[in-house]
Amino acid sequence: MASRVAVIGAGTMGNGIAQVLGQGGHTVVLSDIDAAALERARAQIDRSLGKLAEKGRIAAADRTAALSRIEFTRDLADVTAADLVVEAVVEKLDVKRELFAELDRITKPATILASNTSSISITRLGAATRRPGKVIGMHFMNPVPLMALVEVIRGQATSDETTRTVMDLSRSLGKTPVEVNDFPGFVSNRVLMPMINEAIFAVYEGVAKPEAIDEVMKLGMNHPMGPLTLADFIGLDVCLAILEVLHDGLGDPKYRPCPLLKRMVDAGWLGRKSGRGFYTYS
Ligand code: CAA
Repeated sequence: MASRVAVIGAGTMGNGIAQVLGQGGHTVVLSDIDAAALERARAQIDRSLGKLAEKGRIAAADRTAALSRIEFTRDLADVTAADLVVEAVVEKLDVKRELFAELDRITKPATILASNTSSISITRLGAATRRPGKVIGMHFMNPVPLMALVEVIRGQATSDETTRTVMDLSRSLGKTPVEVNDFPGFVSNRVLMPMINEAIFAVYEGVAKPEAIDEVMKLGMNHPMGPLTLADFIGLDVCLAILEVLHDGLGDPKYRPCPLLKRMVDAGWLGRKSGRGFYTYS
């Protein structure tokens, strides 16, 4: 089982992944090119661990131990000793392919290269390396420290051994891994995004106000968040990008992104992170 793990990309997802790996006793290197992002990462992880300790979900000693296992670095060369790399950088195919080719060059041949992508093809990322059998999807859900699922995605060439290692590692973190195959949006976003898109069409067509749509889904279907609150939480730009992957990849017009979603993204209304989406945030 991997004990030295590197996480590339200190955004919300990368931070959460580094945190749960630290909590799981692994030595973690969290790498990002942006020093300010690494500073924010340390603060976010510390805050999250503090919350968990406050609620008695982890012991106070584990809070400091988990954070002390994470090294924050701007130098990609610091990841070379890792047994497993989890990539969590921006959702752009070219950026990820280039990074996978570089990781392939600088890590040991036995290192597993995993991606936290929400919809980019694992098969294509594998093809950018000389070790496609060791390339796999490890899709965590936001907020990573609280959500039980890891969607484990097998690319065309991903080996049984790689899959087994990643499933076992996910279980050791207290998560429940679910194995799926590499198709656009995998399972999570193939099912989630059409629901969110439909909720946006319902706003667009004046079926109901955002608050009413969310209330129906929360109270009527027992969803913890309504679909529009969830879209704001995920980021409207991320939702649009995933819908475009579904639309292009599956070629079915049922996945076409709602024009209102496109217009909101054009306006820079990206949800919680920009302060405005279907709701406003201070
Ligand atoms: N670390 C530690 N604690 C955290 C946290 C984190 N990262 N994030 C939130 N919390 C805390 C909150 O601060 C809150 O603490 P207090 O009770 O002290 O205020 C506590 O957790 C519970 O939060 P809430 O009171 O808001 O209660 P909740 O029961 O609504 O739980 C939730 C929050 C787990 C986020 C829940 O609303 C939920 O499950 N929402 C749906 C999330 C979801 O669907 N995620 C998947 C998104 S899709 C994705 O990630 C993948 C993709 O590809 C797009």
